[in-house]
Amino acid sequence: MSPHLSTDRHRAAAGDRVTGPPTPPSLAVRLAGVTLASPLVLASGVMGLSASSLERVAAAGAGAVTTKSCGLEERQGHPCPAILPFAHGLLNAVGLANPGLDEMAAEIAAFQARTPVPLIASIFAKNEAGFAEAAGRLLERVTPALLEVNVSCPNVASEFGQPFAADADACGRITAAVKARARGIPVAVKLSLQCPSLAHVGRACQDAGADALTAINSVGPGMLIDIDVRRPILANQVGGLSGAAILPLAVRAVWDLFQAVTIPIIGTGGVTRPEDALQLILAGATAVGIGTGIYTGGLELFAATNAFLADRLAHGGLPSLDALRGAAHG
Ligand SMILES: Cc1cc2nc3c(=O)[nH]c(=O)nc-3n(C[C@H](O)[C@H](O)[C@H](O)COP(=O)(O)O)c2cc1C
Repeated sequence: MSPHLSTDRHRAAAGDRVTGPPTPPSLAVRLAGVTLASPLVLASGVMGLSASSLERVAAAGAGAVTTKSCGLEERQGHPCPAILPFAHGLLNAVGLANPGLDEMAAEIAAFQARTPVPLIASIFAKNEAGFAEAAGRLLERVTPALLEVNVSCPNVASEFGQPFAADADACGRITAAVKARARGIPVAVKLSLQCPSLAHVGRACQDAGADALTAINSVGPGMLIDIDVRRPILANQVGGLSGAAILPLAVRAVWDLFQAVTIPIIGTGGVTRPEDALQLILAGATAVGIGTGIYTGGLELFAATNAFLADRLAHGGLPSLDALRGAAHG
């Protein structure tokens, strides 16, 4: 049984009404020592390149915002078309396009000067030493609330090889290398479903000192073909799958991790309706990432989901989301 499952808060989650004077429900959660006013987090890669777009998401009701993943150098990424909406989500082959660490640090500083909402800085690199260097260089310049380590981008394999997230030992080494340069800032490792055992990878990150896990990155890569010109639509041919199509995969990933680790999980993938966020919390997520849902539902999805979660707490007489986290495990 997961160490998470031995607490009373899970038993309270069965829908019991709490007696006594009503306490106003709070959506606040503690994530690796950081307090978020809402569990909803902007996922990396969507509206995360500039201070002004991050501010718009914070103002819309996100409890934290994550930057686009940035690396040591500027990257152009893959040519357009790089983002392809379809009936059940998106395929993206953005290819980690980003302005590089120095420019991203300036955007982070500008955001933090104007907004108290916690910011999660996301980094990527080609190898273990690169992750350590990226963490060190970024954190010399800015102090994010959390550092997210993207070891799982599915659409740069032709250049970087298979994502590190498929290899538990590599994830453990990268986690330890980043932690050594993290200046005490909590580190979340962003995982992929595409590995032999997510539980094994999650435990390797936890054992190496990770303070949280984010699961999952986009899935695949996948491909869609233009039936008239008879060619793949994305210029890169393949791209990572996100949005509604991957919700069941994300729920299952959070479920597996919740049973395997004790560190908090940022459950991410396929949230396009308020009810989807609650599913991830019931599976064990402390916070819930939203990316593609913004394309389909707009920024209003944050306020609508906050209202839905607050209503569920009030209706159940529950003071906080602690009572719902992992409740589906029984
Ligand atoms: C256009 C786009 C760009 C993305 N870029 C990044 C990125 O730079 N770093 C990262 O860790 N994840 C990136 N992701 C993955 C998302 O953060 C998220 O893990 C994934 O899309 C699943 O969540 P969703 O279904 O809510 O979008 C990107 C996703 C999309 C759609």
